[in-house]
Amino acid sequence: MGIPLVDLQSQYLDIRDEVLAAFDEALTGMQLNLGPNVQAFEEEWAEFCGVRHAIGVGNGTEALNLLLQAHRIGPGDEVITVAFTFIATLEAILQVGATPVMVDIDPETMCIAPEEVGEKITPRTRAIIAVHLYGQPADMQALAEVVGDRDIRLLEDAAQAHGATCRGRPAGSLADGAAFSFYPSKNLAAYGEAGAITTDAREIDDTVRHLRVHGSREKYVHRLVGYNSRLDELQAAVLRIKLRRLADWNEARRRHARRYSEQLAGIDGLQLPVEREWARHVYHVYTVRSPRRDEIAEALEAEDIGYAIHYRVPCHLQEAMADLGCGPGSLPETERAAAEVISLPMYPELTNEQIDRVCEVVRSVLE
Ligand SMILES: Cc1ncc(COP(=O)(O)O)c(C=O)c1O
Repeated sequence: MGIPLVDLQSQYLDIRDEVLAAFDEALTGMQLNLGPNVQAFEEEWAEFCGVRHAIGVGNGTEALNLLLQAHRIGPGDEVITVAFTFIATLEAILQVGATPVMVDIDPETMCIAPEEVGEKITPRTRAIIAVHLYGQPADMQALAEVVGDRDIRLLEDAAQAHGATCRGRPAGSLADGAAFSFYPSKNLAAYGEAGAITTDAREIDDTVRHLRVHGSREKYVHRLVGYNSRLDELQAAVLRIKLRRLADWNEARRRHARRYSEQLAGIDGLQLPVEREWARHVYHVYTVRSPRRDEIAEALEAEDIGYAIHYRVPCHLQEAMADLGCGPGSLPETERAAAEVISLPMYPELTNEQIDRVCEVVRSVLE
């Protein structure tokens, strides 16, 4: 039997009765427009993230977009971020009319390298989006020090980091606002599209609540030109059920990561995930690096073991970003990482036997 990269079915079977009962209750109540589950989830998610406000929206990409708009970032503004991320981070910046400025990564954590940020700051820089890649928080303290007292917003793309912490504080509470995705494979995941914004700022909360419903908080009164980006009531019902298990699921991911790292330690040419002493990594994915990545991928495939490359083509080299003019060689650490990373199977229900089997295949290639 093969081993999938993620196994959403086995998790569903564990919670099926609760999910079906919650769907039945929501559909019987028929309050489907920002109904009781959305309201309750927003309170529960704010509490989990240690912030005053959480606003449910349509998906993670729209969460980033609305967060930027709520901070009044638009045409003429520059936003510093990484190219080593899912393209949505860049799309959101471009969608609001701002200009992305991409910086290189720390080759150990694969998150933004704070020391690269300073020289990219210009008088037009209005925000920095730090991506907590793979489930590891970016070094927000170092970024805050680089920004100093300049009028630059520090924002989190926390789409992969539900429950991660930086110096004891949860992702989502580390800056001037954060965007989450609850895409079906995330650590906290809906059964469809869903996202959220978290913030301590009341005016950001209020603006996002307007923007997500056609610029309106009072029926047929439109203060702003907005969007239709509500969190769906049925998805909120699922998220509430799963949120009660998120801490245990993240613990399981961390246990699996430890086992992987113990079994894969000491192999020449294999770089394992690094967890900074101030960070709590939640292993959305377990990603290793090797110059022989393609051989590892081939061997896993031959054994029917799932894997993924996050990300084979970094954003600055995507055809869609050609206008930004960042050619090959402009972000050397990013480009090296893109050539070397490979993500191994990771989900809470993974068994020790499965991990051992994956490690055996990886070792057989490199030893
Ligand atoms: C880092 C990152 N940012 C943004 C997104 C966009 O989220 P969504 O797919 O919910 O739009 C994702 C995931 O899909 C992501 O991994």
